[in-house]
Amino acid sequence: MGLFAPLNPPLPAWPEARVWVIGASTGIGAATAKLLLDAGARVALSARSADKLRDVAGGHTNAVVEPLDFTRSADVAAAWDRIRARWGGVDLVLIVAGTHREMRAWELTEKDSRALLEINLHAVINTTGVLVPGLLAQGSGAIGIVASVAGYRGLPKALVYGASKAAVINFTETLYLDLHPKGLGVYLIMPGFVKTPLTDQNDFTMPHLISAEEAAREIVDGMRAGKFEIHFPRAFTRQLKLLRLLPYRWYFHLVRKATGL
Ligand SMILES: NC(=O)c1ccc[n+]([C@@H]2O[C@H](COP(=O)([O-])OP(=O)(O)OC[C@H]3O[C@@H](n4cnc5c(N)ncnc54)[C@H](OP(=O)(O)O)[C@@H]3O)[C@@H](O)[C@H]2O)c1
Repeated sequence: MGLFAPLNPPLPAWPEARVWVIGASTGIGAATAKLLLDAGARVALSARSADKLRDVAGGHTNAVVEPLDFTRSADVAAAWDRIRARWGGVDLVLIVAGTHREMRAWELTEKDSRALLEINLHAVINTTGVLVPGLLAQGSGAIGIVASVAGYRGLPKALVYGASKAAVINFTETLYLDLHPKGLGVYLIMPGFVKTPLTDQNDFTMPHLISAEEAAREIVDGMRAGKFEIHFPRAFTRQLKLLRLLPYRWYFHLVRKATGL
């Protein structure tokens, strides 16, 4: 691999591409699915809310609605089989689905942390496990997984959410190491703050907040450029990447100062 070569193999042009977006009913997933549908890709849309998926599909004849709960691996496997049978293969699967709830140390309960990890971690891992054999058999295709900059280092109010995303970052890095030599693509998608139903519940001013449409554009451009890590908005993520390098004493001090928590 050349020093400056793209880290991922090229994707087909969008009008030839067959894409499955899991978590396509609202927010970042819905905006990305719409962008790809407008670009002419065939897009299968999954999430639990069938009515919202139908709204995202709109009048697009290149959209397929596949409602499911991705914590149920058997349903994911059945949808994966149906989509591949319909199109003869899949070029890209985006695992965008996730959830968030603020949690501080004194609010930690087993019930809440299990519920969050079930969606943000176990469902992501189990869905990947369903996809990999089919992609290996195809000998081509890519998986994109949405983590979060909250997984870089510990942040206040993100006690279990941050841990779930840190685990997803590590998982996706290892997935890349395994699958890249087999000719498959792996994208680690790292949004900063994006205005969606998920962040509408936040009670603080979110720095560098962008729209779901801007996030979708970043994701699509990043995949097209063959990047591994697609992080945005860069004015924010560059600061966080610098913070990642600091010794704990400085890191904790700066986080307290920035958040007041
Ligand atoms: N917004 C941000 O600032 C931000 C920042 C960093 C990372 N992220 C990550 O980006 C991803 C998308 O978040 P978003 O902000 O766009 O939130 P969102 O609008 O709430 O979208 C979440 C999506 O996940 C789906 N989903 C949740 N649980 C599911 C399940 N069990 N089975 C199938 N689908 C499920 C939801 O659909 P249904 O409810 O219809 O199932 C919805 O389509 C998440 O992984 C989130 O952690 C967001």
